[in-house]
Amino acid sequence: MTVSKNVKLPHLFYGGDYNPEQWPEEVWKDDMRLMNKAGVNIVSVGIFSWAALQPGPETYDFAWLDRLMDLMAEHGIMADLATATASPPAWLAKLHPESLPVDENGARYAQGSRQHYCPNSKAFRLYGQRLVRKLAERYKDHPALAMWHINNEYACHISQCFCEECTREFRVWLQKRYGTIDELNARWGTNFWSQKYYDWEEIGLPGKTPTYPNPGQQLDYKRFMSDSLLDAYLGEQRILKEITPHLPIMTNFMGAFKPLDHFEWAKHLDVVTWDSYPEPTAGIPVFAAMQHDLMRSLKGGQPFILMEQVTSQVNWRQQNPLKRPGVMRLWSYQTIAHGGDGVMFFQWRQSQAGAEKFHGAMVTHTGDENSRIYREVEQLGQELKRLDALVDSRVEARVAMIFDWHNWWALELDSKPSRDILYLEQVKQYYQALFEHNVGVDFVQPNADLSSYKLVIAPAMYMVAPGVAANLESYVQNGGTLLTTFFSGIVDENDRIHLGGYPAPLRKLLGICVEEFDPMLPGQTNGISITGGGEFSCNLWADIIRLEGAEALASFSSDFFAGSPAVTEHTFGSGKAYYVGTQPEAGYIKQLVGGLLAELELQAPVTAPAGVEATVRRSANGDRYIFVLNHNGQKTSVGLPEGAFVDLISGRSVDSSLELDPNGIAILHLQP
Ligand code: GAL
Repeated sequence: MTVSKNVKLPHLFYGGDYNPEQWPEEVWKDDMRLMNKAGVNIVSVGIFSWAALQPGPETYDFAWLDRLMDLMAEHGIMADLATATASPPAWLAKLHPESLPVDENGARYAQGSRQHYCPNSKAFRLYGQRLVRKLAERYKDHPALAMWHINNEYACHISQCFCEECTREFRVWLQKRYGTIDELNARWGTNFWSQKYYDWEEIGLPGKTPTYPNPGQQLDYKRFMSDSLLDAYLGEQRILKEITPHLPIMTNFMGAFKPLDHFEWAKHLDVVTWDSYPEPTAGIPVFAAMQHDLMRSLKGGQPFILMEQVTSQVNWRQQNPLKRPGVMRLWSYQTIAHGGDGVMFFQWRQSQAGAEKFHGAMVTHTGDENSRIYREVEQLGQELKRLDALVDSRVEARVAMIFDWHNWWALELDSKPSRDILYLEQVKQYYQALFEHNVGVDFVQPNADLSSYKLVIAPAMYMVAPGVAANLESYVQNGGTLLTTFFSGIVDENDRIHLGGYPAPLRKLLGICVEEFDPMLPGQTNGISITGGGEFSCNLWADIIRLEGAEALASFSSDFFAGSPAVTEHTFGSGKAYYVGTQPEAGYIKQLVGGLLAELELQAPVTAPAGVEATVRRSANGDRYIFVLNHNGQKTSVGLPEGAFVDLISGRSVDSSLELDPNGIAILHLQP
């Protein structure tokens, strides 16, 4: 098996994190046997091996990794080789205590768990990069080496640091961004509360302060931390690129994870990979589907790899129930249905010791192939071998949702009209409606080219940065349909208000002016009456809207603004712009979105009852594959479009209708 730079594998990735340093070498041979039996083709090695690879500042031990890599090559298992910098060894903390991160109260974190490094620490970077160079030089031509895995889940535990090195670097970062101290003062609005700076050295980090720190400073600090972590990544990546320019390089993300600006990061990865741990008893994993779509979208639709999921149960929730039989398989196919070209696990063999000994794995504490878990792992691995045709095929999507990390950061800063407005919650509500209608969804940045989408939904677009309003206007002008929601168009990229009546930069496009907004208390509701009939409830927020060319589709039913518009529609050029000035109940959102989809002739690929998920992937040669996933606990029948299909998993021919077992899956290939 070969892996090219853009990871066009001939097979779907199947494997997991492999931590052989936790086991005597006799066990490795059995690992190889069980991996081969289960159809494993790649494992991530060395993620937490720094201490095993480097006993001291000047001493290295690669002998065990040499033997392991050779064994893997012999057994046809590829290595996603980690740079091992995710957990620095104890000697580094002893030698360079300043490499440990500092919290907002000024307290230093201790060594003894993992991720105990400041991303700006010179010592961490120096020793880490030395190790990376050694690893790259040693294994560059090794036949098992397929891909580089830099560090692990950046910012998972430590997403901010308040140490002196960070303070110094923050000042440098700000000088680069603003050039002059006057510009910084203007952007941060420092005439407020006597915050004006006269010298860069006066600027600190927004740590422990008596009350709200400056919002511009907080926002820039979030940008700075994302950039600092990225810079740590790039420091390692440069070395790998220099020594192994032919190999793909990546790190594993955590989905819709707030601290990192993933669109910016993804530019520097050859392939996006991420780790998904949905709550196993919470029903259909809609949020996992949303994050698959988001992760796929980071590189414009290029397939991603699910780097970690669990076979059975995790160890870090309050209670850790098992995934029921068939659920791991179903959710693995959901990954592929949303554009995954691989399904991997944390971890291969369940640990005997350490904090994760109760975390599920592909091989459990029974240690053999007789466990339910291993049997499910083996079945899936053998099935995936039949799916080579899917590799590098693309998910079809004519709907986009705007997603913006800077907006997320700004929206959830302190001192807002309501603390209950959470960006992900707003995005999820509209994604849920699209998911239930079974239409494909891409995620895009606010300044992206939107011309290939029929519908664009932008919930809670609080921040409208320069160029964004013009981008949205030209999209709608040219026939696009845009839907946005309350608390949009409020601030610029520095969290300063867009003056002139909300949603100032979007006012012309939406044909409305929001004069005031009235956040609701927990438990408080209002109603919306649909023009032409129908009543729904709403909560959280009410915009008091004046129409300036738009039409009301629904109006509030009570309070002093009863009868004023709650939902509006505005024709703009050849397209339409919709605005929802409250948080309506889910039924209304589904109806509204459903109406738009119908008008735009965006249909689900199959006719299915609730609980059946469907997506479409299309390969470069034009072949279409319809994924149908039954999340229901009973047999379900699904209506198919015209044509003759073959199910790639079972090999059976199917036409007009399909019967799916509970947790059943079909991947239907339309026959020519
Ligand atoms: C991930 C991490 C793995 C493992 C796993 C447990 O966040 O990358 O190393 O800790 O969680 O669920």
